[in-house]
Amino acid sequence: MKDKGESEQAVLERLSNYRARDISYDRVLSAMCTHPHPIAARAHEMFMEANLGDAGLFPGAHEMEHEVIAMLGGMLGDAGVHGYITTGGTESNIQAIRAARNCGISDKPNIVVSESAHFSFDKIADLLRVEVRKADLDEVFRVDPASVEAHIDDNTVAIVGIAGTTEFGQVDPIRELSDMAVERSIFLHVDAAFGAFVIPFLDKRYDFDFRLPGVSSMTADPHKMGLCTIPAGGLLFRDPSHLHELHTHTPYLTVDTQYSLSGTRSGAVAAAAYAVMRHLGLDGYRTTVEHCMKLTRRVVERAGEFGVEPLIDPVMNVVVLDVGDTVKVRKAMGARGWYTSITRRPLALRLVIMPHMSEKRLEEFLDDLEQVCRERT
Ligand SMILES: Cc1ncc(COP(=O)(O)O)c(C=O)c1O
Repeated sequence: MKDKGESEQAVLERLSNYRARDISYDRVLSAMCTHPHPIAARAHEMFMEANLGDAGLFPGAHEMEHEVIAMLGGMLGDAGVHGYITTGGTESNIQAIRAARNCGISDKPNIVVSESAHFSFDKIADLLRVEVRKADLDEVFRVDPASVEAHIDDNTVAIVGIAGTTEFGQVDPIRELSDMAVERSIFLHVDAAFGAFVIPFLDKRYDFDFRLPGVSSMTADPHKMGLCTIPAGGLLFRDPSHLHELHTHTPYLTVDTQYSLSGTRSGAVAAAAYAVMRHLGLDGYRTTVEHCMKLTRRVVERAGEFGVEPLIDPVMNVVVLDVGDTVKVRKAMGARGWYTSITRRPLALRLVIMPHMSEKRLEEFLDDLEQVCRERT
């Protein structure tokens, strides 16, 4: 920092220069975040100074957060859930497993996740000193319940199902996992970081949420398909005792305890989530998902015309294409200004069709993809 400060205009100019170097979402098909809804941005600004870590000072923001949790729970089968707004899927997953570990009785705890679990579970292994066992996938990239069962032992404190896998957008057989959890009295966490704001609005119905008796906790991120500002995740528990497992005594704040991972935390994102969920309602999110699914189907249709097939029929707005030499195709698309990503096993081109994608922009992308794929054959 310099001794003498700069004028506001000079600083704003600097900021604009940095901002100009950021990539516009228009050409991004690799991200699970998108432009926040304008009302979310406005609400964010209104609550910028609210600190939910010291909730006694911000009773309004605190109550608003409770309402967001109830809205998320209502969308996911139980408006009476207990939880809080986290910084995203990673924090929610960490905290859910921390709660499960704390109420488990093992001194060598393990959890069972699928091979397609998000890398936040690798962080969990390191941070929480929990062994993370990875169960096999079936031929359409869902976790194989028999493999989950085979990995469970007396030290298993939780099993995890994914509703909207990061790489394939696939939904694990959560009903089977729920039955397993009930039968064996094991904690079941459902990571619906991406899927929470998609699956309820698909034509096909999936059992994946608190309507299933075995589901103990869920991750549901407003900052992905919820069109909220970043960083807004949702952590939800069916049973308040699980949230209590996360309590820490906070002697010098206006509240006695805290259950969040971070201390000071933003009320702005809770306001943003509140605003966009109230404003769009379930109908608004349905329209958003319909738009994304229409474009997703268009990708499959158009790719088929130039001989490229998806690895699975897209379940949600994630398409994985078998383009042959994935690394080269991705690079060539990158040279044309498109941001795409890959799956690990098998290696393939992964596209996430987010609400920021327009029909026109998608056709431009597909024109380029066709040219690149034809050049490579
Ligand atoms: C299924 C799933 N879980 C967790 C996460 C982590 O979320 P975040 O990046 O918000 O921490 C992601 C991110 O894409 C995800 O797809």
